[in-house]
Amino acid sequence: MEKWAELKQSHKNLSAAAASTYDEIYHNSNHATGIYMRYEEDLIHSIIDRLPGKSHAVVLGSGTGRESFAMARYFDRVTGLDFSPEMTEVAFKNQEKRKIQNTSFVTLDVENDPLPFENQSVDFINSTFGMGSFVLNPASLFLEIKRVLKKDGRVIFSFYNSQAFVNQLQLGWTPAISSRLNHEEKALEVQFGGQIYFVPVVPYSVTEIRGELERFFSIHSITTFPSISSIFPQELFENDRVRKLCLEADLFLAGNLELAGGPFIVAEVGNK
Ligand SMILES: C[S@@+](CC[C@H](N)C(=O)[O-])C[C@H]1O[C@@H](n2cnc3c(N)ncnc32)[C@H](O)[C@@H]1O
Repeated sequence: MEKWAELKQSHKNLSAAAASTYDEIYHNSNHATGIYMRYEEDLIHSIIDRLPGKSHAVVLGSGTGRESFAMARYFDRVTGLDFSPEMTEVAFKNQEKRKIQNTSFVTLDVENDPLPFENQSVDFINSTFGMGSFVLNPASLFLEIKRVLKKDGRVIFSFYNSQAFVNQLQLGWTPAISSRLNHEEKALEVQFGGQIYFVPVVPYSVTEIRGELERFFSIHSITTFPSISSIFPQELFENDRVRKLCLEADLFLAGNLELAGGPFIVAEVGNK
């Protein structure tokens, strides 16, 4: 618990340091991270397309507002929650620059604080980019999500996969992914701006997280991504054909839960 609190401060330091350059750096520096971000975006759009109601959407760990702005054109309003005041400040600045009227951002720790919304008032909750693994006790967050989610609402979660190839193989190179599990430190090792940060995470296997989610939700899909691109070094992806080959393989393998090789587990869930 003490270790968790200590590492959580390191996560807040990372967010503070990254806030102003996050949008330029993150998806560009590491090929596998970039394709994962696009994979999530596509899933988010396909879920929104199928949603019956579009009045209020919420982003947990909203960072600079990147996803909130992309979602804003579909919903009456979007609220982003992030524990980093620096991230919230950048999100507000970005909102002003883009002249978007229907987003708002609140500095709040979703691990400790109740979600600031009425019961059954939210159509869609986006808890992606590993956010599900940034809470020590997922059950209390899941209960809060259940409380605020409308009956026919949907949630997209992502978690760090303990069984991912990149987290289990001893590689003789640095893979093209910005964050992977460090077993010695029992933490997520994140590279940002030439620095390494250790961030507290609870990694899961697909079986473990499926069991945990099933206690609260009905699961509509589970995939892992990107199995192959996350194990190779950045230089390899300078080649167009290699990029395409690996992407095709990763999309093909996403639903293969026997291998379940991608560093992120992504789940779409709704009410039972
Ligand atoms: C990898 S970034 C993703 C940001 C954004 N979702 C995106 O995809 O661009 C993770 C974000 O989650 C926030 N975060 C991590 N743990 C959190 C918590 N317990 N409560 C609220 N925000 C949290 C961090 O400050 C950071 O901005």
